[in-house]
Amino acid sequence: MTNQNPISDMQKAPAIRVEKSKPLRGEITVPGDKSISHRAVMFGALAKGDTRVQNFLQGADCLSTISCFEKMGIRIENNKEEVIIHGKGLHGLSAPTETLYTGNSGTTTRLISGILAGQPFSTRLTGDDSICKRPMKRVIDPLSEMGADIKSENGNGCAPLLISPASLRGIHYNSPVASAQVKSAVLLAGLYADDKTSVTEPVLSRDHTERMLRMLGASVTSEGVTATITPNPDLTAQDIFVPGDISSAAYFIAAASIVPGSEVLIKNVGINETRAGILKVADAMGARIELLNRRGGDGEPVADLLVSYAPLHGTTVSGELIPALIDEIPIIAVMAAAAEGTTMIKDAAELKVKESDRIFTVTENLKKMGADVTPTEDGMIIEGGRPLMGAAIDSYLDHRIAMSFQVASLIARGETTIKDADCVNISYPTFYSDLAALIQ
Ligand code: S3P
Repeated sequence: MTNQNPISDMQKAPAIRVEKSKPLRGEITVPGDKSISHRAVMFGALAKGDTRVQNFLQGADCLSTISCFEKMGIRIENNKEEVIIHGKGLHGLSAPTETLYTGNSGTTTRLISGILAGQPFSTRLTGDDSICKRPMKRVIDPLSEMGADIKSENGNGCAPLLISPASLRGIHYNSPVASAQVKSAVLLAGLYADDKTSVTEPVLSRDHTERMLRMLGASVTSEGVTATITPNPDLTAQDIFVPGDISSAAYFIAAASIVPGSEVLIKNVGINETRAGILKVADAMGARIELLNRRGGDGEPVADLLVSYAPLHGTTVSGELIPALIDEIPIIAVMAAAAEGTTMIKDAAELKVKESDRIFTVTENLKKMGADVTPTEDGMIIEGGRPLMGAAIDSYLDHRIAMSFQVASLIARGETTIKDADCVNISYPTFYSDLAALIQ
């Protein structure tokens, strides 16, 4: 029994059980990028012709996006190897006959709101319990400023949202948050406005919308933290290859860095600078990561990452770096718990409005494992180096919490269980088996 792979038979268990791990060794290709997969469907639907998408993320969030566009008359073939979107152009969507359901996906809800604001038909948009608690005022405000007719059904600034036809005007929006979802919603509404629309952010957020719209033929300019779009372009279908998701690669970066003796090659990872903050933080913590075979240019840059175990030390994660690693903070916190010394995470109050309140869900679960961690208003302080103990982890139905603590359990003494472990289906359905395959 002792030689058994500790996580090999977890797939069947209602809660995942993990015990201290052997080294991780070998190669892994993580699934396609979630942000880019969403955009490929949305923008492909608004382009004329067939957009063929390779390496599309078959996670629940991206499938929600497909289903919303199917309900608006877009034919989408999904044969797993390839997703083909039969786009009908900027004005080709038709009125859905039922409420659009966005599941757990903030990206679907916010980006689609920008598109729906410009349509000649009314829509009702809603999602799961978590989505109906997340702030939508951040898109309602700028879209209303453009003239959109968009309301929160319950008047609480959250979904369900009711969006009705209205003429849109181009605006300049000074966004109070560095959020690619807000920026994208406004730029997408800008496709249907009477004049140019621009968004200035406090710090540059991920720029996949700008890159992909440009690739499809839109005029989008980016100058520092400001992006500007010209309305009514002819968008033309293109082939899109979705790079591996650095947010999913992050779990293997962390696991290989903290489990002694590990060496893992993570192939085909998107390393767009607006997403790759984890590489900078890992480097500052003393991680050993080599970027091999760098490729791609204008579209989305890609590399293979060779990660080897190295003793980590604490660091400060703050400021302009935060938007480039916002989804990786749970796993960075796990790395920090394994590192020697103090890690401070600051300027990350956005964590509170993700799929769970990640300041709470990360610190609660780390405490259960015996880590020395203190939540703060905009982050957390972790005194690393205490040995971790197995614990009953609650994922709070947040995919990134489940995956982060599965990785933490690899260095914990004793058994860890993860409640609602299957929430990883949101962004990485094969996460547990992919991780198990590296531990032989
Ligand atoms: C995303 C943007 C980020 C990120 C989310 C995906 C996107 O959210 O947390 O997982 O695809 O635009 P915010 O824009 O709210 O920061």
